Amino acid sequence: MADLSVTIQQAGDVLHLHQQGQPDLRFHAIWLRDNALDAATRDPGNGQRLITLADIPPDTRLISAAISGDQLVCAFAPEGKTTAYPINWLQTNAYDQPRADAQGRLPGHAVAWDSALTADIPAADLSDLQSNADTRRDWLTAVRRYGFAKVTGMAPQSGGLFDIVSLFGYVRETNYGRHFEVRTEVNPVNLAYTGLGLQAHTDNPYRDPVPTLQILSCLENSADGGENMVVDGFAAARRLLAEDPHGFALLAGYPARFAYTGGNGVALQSRRPVIELSPDGELVALRFNSRSAAPVTDVPFDDMPDWYTAYRRLSDIIDNPSMEVVFKLAPGEAFIVDNTRVLHARKGYSGAGNRWLQGCYADKDGLLSTLNALEAAS
Ligand code: FE2
Repeated sequence: MADLSVTIQQAGDVLHLHQQGQPDLRFHAIWLRDNALDAATRDPGNGQRLITLADIPPDTRLISAAISGDQLVCAFAPEGKTTAYPINWLQTNAYDQPRADAQGRLPGHAVAWDSALTADIPAADLSDLQSNADTRRDWLTAVRRYGFAKVTGMAPQSGGLFDIVSLFGYVRETNYGRHFEVRTEVNPVNLAYTGLGLQAHTDNPYRDPVPTLQILSCLENSADGGENMVVDGFAAARRLLAEDPHGFALLAGYPARFAYTGGNGVALQSRRPVIELSPDGELVALRFNSRSAAPVTDVPFDDMPDWYTAYRRLSDIIDNPSMEVVFKLAPGEAFIVDNTRVLHARKGYSGAGNRWLQGCYADKDGLLSTLNALEAAS
């Protein structure tokens, strides 16, 4: 690390890591002490912090710092503690850098998409996913990137979809059960019968937190039509942002309300925005489901007309065919969506035949955990 040097500044409050040809990286003494990597601060086995802030004196400051090989060695007063940090760990965890602060920006791993993805729907065969870690990693990467992927080669029998969940995590059971049936028998006598389509939506916005993944699997699909359709909600939100920043800010800035009152003691309610952003403006989630929308009562009177204009425009964008990826599932096929981002819908169907899907929920933290572990191992 010949091209690195360090200085202590501001009476020991700040350390400057000088890098040749690059800006300094600055670290505060309190940050360095809190994030010490020694065995007395972090458990060497599980990496968990063994101290609290109460164990760190509020007047903590640096009294020495030096580069030693590929480590930075620091001493802190008043504890008299000396500890070392790998330089590449400091560079990886540096916070003294330009902020990504654009409102409505995509999360780091996400790529927005539209109907063009129809030609390149991410998909993998279940047996490959089960037996090949690289296939599993690539498929999970696609789910993280697009919030959507297909699976083929599933057993077309009741409960087959649980084999997909087992690839990365656990079923999230709800009042609808471990799984739910989406089953329609089209009346073969009345060929004019047309099954109603459903507008693209996210599921269960009345839960808090929502189920973050949904899997829909196909056991039978012999009716005409009945295609599935998905829309990238983040892409739709960003289109609204480009057209109407004020409307985007209203949908992100005020809670909407969602409710579902079923029988058997179920009365689910949530108070969450249609577009949810992180405190620094990154897209977190979209909740869009007109069937579950409750009266919005948290938008000020004067803002309500513009809130509705933005909500209507978002609805129109979601309904625009240029946004949708349409596909028909065959028996033994399934798809997964990130229910915080990707909306799904059923097209209308008609004619004789049956349509039998099974769905279930799962959670994204387990999926991302599995992906992170696979990436760390490869
Ligand atoms: Fe749904």
